[in-house]
Amino acid sequence: MSDKTKPPEPQLADNGLRPKKLTDFNGQDQIKKGLNILISASKQRKEAIDHILFYGPPGLGKTTLANVIASEMGVSIRITAGPAIERSGDLAAILTSLQEGDVLFIDEIHRLNKTVEETLYPAMEDFALDIIVGKGPAARTLRLNLPKFTIIGATTKIGAISSPLRDRFGAVYRLQFYEQQELQKIILRNAEILKIKIEDEACELLAARSRRTPRIANRLLKRVRDFAQIDNKDKIDKEIIKKALTILEIDDFGLDHGDRQYLKSLCLKYDGGPVGIDTLAATIAEDCQSVEEVIEPFLIQLGFLKRSKQGRVATDQAFKYLGIKKKN
Ligand SMILES: Nc1ncnc2c1ncn2[C@@H]1O[C@H](COP(=O)(O)OP(=O)(O)O)[C@@H](O)[C@H]1O
Ligand SMILES: [Mg+2]
Repeated sequence: MSDKTKPPEPQLADNGLRPKKLTDFNGQDQIKKGLNILISASKQRKEAIDHILFYGPPGLGKTTLANVIASEMGVSIRITAGPAIERSGDLAAILTSLQEGDVLFIDEIHRLNKTVEETLYPAMEDFALDIIVGKGPAARTLRLNLPKFTIIGATTKIGAISSPLRDRFGAVYRLQFYEQQELQKIILRNAEILKIKIEDEACELLAARSRRTPRIANRLLKRVRDFAQIDNKDKIDKEIIKKALTILEIDDFGLDHGDRQYLKSLCLKYDGGPVGIDTLAATIAEDCQSVEEVIEPFLIQLGFLKRSKQGRVATDQAFKYLGIKKKN
């Protein structure tokens, strides 16, 4: 492969911000505790680590944890995604290329199609693939043994995972939104990697506007670094952050233009709901998936939104935030 056609190294694309060791991974303490035990026990037994499923909103560290686990186990990781595996044959090709103990990371695992998913069951449980050879009455099933490997799945939609698939994971972990302190630590560590100084107050402010999400904290940090560079400052201070946040239209809650559009539409057009997700997404010209997986989880976390059987409902806090009166 020439350099041009090579996919970018995830590590490089991330400017090396992705932690590689469990001790460099801030936050998610419960998960880390569980993983520490899983990792040490499998290392002692010299076995592949059990299959693990991570779920939670985007940007909280699912992909990062999968990489950390592989590196702590000292094994290789293959990265793929649910929609990328179109046929059982594609899955078989990946699985047969794995070495003993390797990790196969399947992102968006809820988007695997049914046939592929069913091929995955015996692979996860018995480390075997059932392949049908021949056609019609002459068809036979061949059982192909696989090396003992580990599947790490990630999903933003745990509800979309069938129970047979879910049951085949030895451990299922839900990632939580980060605490302010944890985000500050992540920002400080990353500022160091990016070789930029940041004042404590500036770090606090940045953490407070990051939607409790490391990916957003990292993104903001990089943007703010650009602003500092252009202003010829060698240290990020509060002023630069404020300036950047204003230009990026990010408010005190960390909400951006898209989030506000969503809330305004729900509160003004639909009197706070309940309204169906499809209608709401169409109103703000967004696709359902990003509304459901990116915009809504943090609004729910803030207490601005509730999901009900009848549809989405804005809370009193949302009306207060927008400064509008609720019609009754
Ligand atoms: N606990 C953490 N500590 C430091 N950086 C983190 C942490 N969690 C996530 N990140 C950073 O945030 C970004 C998004 O993480 P990622 O693992 O891709 O999220 P997800 O797969 O859940 O969408 C990555 O660039 C990673 O560097
Ligand atoms: Mg990911």
